[in-house]
Amino acid sequence: MSYIHKMTDFSDRILDWYDANARELPWRVGPLDRKRGIKPDPYRVWLSEIMLQQTTIPHGIRYFERFTSLWPDIQALAQADKDEIMKEWAGLGYYARARNLHACAQKIAGSGRFPENSKALIALPGIGPYTSAAIAAIAYDEAVAVVDGNVERVFSRFLALKQPLKQEKPAIREAVHARLPDNRPGDFAQALMDLGATICTPRSPKCASCPLMSECEAFAIGTPEAFPVKGPKLKQPLRKGAVYIVHDEKKIVLEKRQENGLLGGMLGLPTSDWTEADRNVRRDMSNTLRLGNVEHTFTHFKLDLDVYEERRDNLPDGIHIDIERLESVGLPSVFAKAVRLWVVQRTG
Ligand code: ADE
Ligand code: SF4
Repeated sequence: MSYIHKMTDFSDRILDWYDANARELPWRVGPLDRKRGIKPDPYRVWLSEIMLQQTTIPHGIRYFERFTSLWPDIQALAQADKDEIMKEWAGLGYYARARNLHACAQKIAGSGRFPENSKALIALPGIGPYTSAAIAAIAYDEAVAVVDGNVERVFSRFLALKQPLKQEKPAIREAVHARLPDNRPGDFAQALMDLGATICTPRSPKCASCPLMSECEAFAIGTPEAFPVKGPKLKQPLRKGAVYIVHDEKKIVLEKRQENGLLGGMLGLPTSDWTEADRNVRRDMSNTLRLGNVEHTFTHFKLDLDVYEERRDNLPDGIHIDIERLESVGLPSVFAKAVRLWVVQRTG
C-alpha cells in the first residue's frame, strides 16, 4: 500500500468509527447533522473548548449548560457583569481564564463577527495554539491538526513513540497533520478526541474495539499502557497556611482577592500567606478554634490549609455575607472545602 493510501485509510477508519460512535455533547453537531449541512455555533464551540481546558466532560457539561442558559450568545456574554461571570466560573479554577473569556467575548462582539480561522482566533485573549486549532477545525472545518492530551496518547501508542511526550510533541503534530482528511477535518479532530477518551484510555485501553488496532504499534508490541513513555516526575511543592471562618450569628467575613494573584478577583475567606515554610498563623488566637485542615491541588503546588473558626460579636472589616447565602456566592473550591468542614461540624 502506498504511503498516501495508508494515510487516507487512517482518516477513513477514524471517520467511520466516529459516524457510529460519536458522543452526544451539547455543543457538538453530530456527524449525521453535519453531513446534512448543519453547522456548529462557534460561540458554543469556543465556550466548550475554554471550559474543557479546565475540567472533565461531565463537569464541563454542567458549566456549559449554566453559562449558555444565562448567556446564549457572544453579545450576551460580552454584556454580562464580570463579577457574575467569575461567580459562575467558581469551581472551574484558574480564574484568569474567566477574565479572558469576558475580554474575548467583548472583542468578538465589538468586531461584529466571530473570527473564522485559526490565525485570527489565536490573536484573541485566552486562545492559544490548541484552542485556536480546535475552534477553527470544529466550527469552520479548517484543515489543522488538533492535538490535545487524548490525541497525544493515541498517537504515542499508535506509533509506539520512544521518548516522553515532551520530546515527541512535534512528531505527533506532524503525524496528525499528515493524516488530515481532505474532507471533514472538524469531525476528524473530534473523532480522535473521542477515541482517546473512550477507547484509547489511559488505563486498560479497549484495543479490541479500536479502529486502529491492526496498524497500532503499541498493540503489536503488546503493552499499550507503556505509552506515552513517562518522563522524570516533578514533585509538586507543598505550601501551607491558615484560613479563617470569621463570623457572628448571621454573617461571615469574605475578602475580594487581589486581581493579579492566585484566584485573582474572586471572593475568598481571609487567609494567611501560603508558604513553603511552616504554617504562619496570624493574629490574636483567642476565641479561635481549629476545625481541621483542607488540601487542594493547584497547577503548580499543593496547598494544605489549617481551618480556624473565629466567632465574633463585632465583625472586622471585609465583605459580610449572610451565612445562609454563602453557597450562592460561588467560592473557589479550596474555600468551599473549608466552609464544608465548618458546616459539617456546626450541624453535626
Ligand atoms: N475535549 C476537548 N474538546 C473536545 C471536543 N470538542 N469533543 C470531545 N472532547 C473534547
Ligand atoms: Fe490505543 Fe489500543 Fe487503539 Fe492502539 S489499538 S490506538 S493502543 S486503543
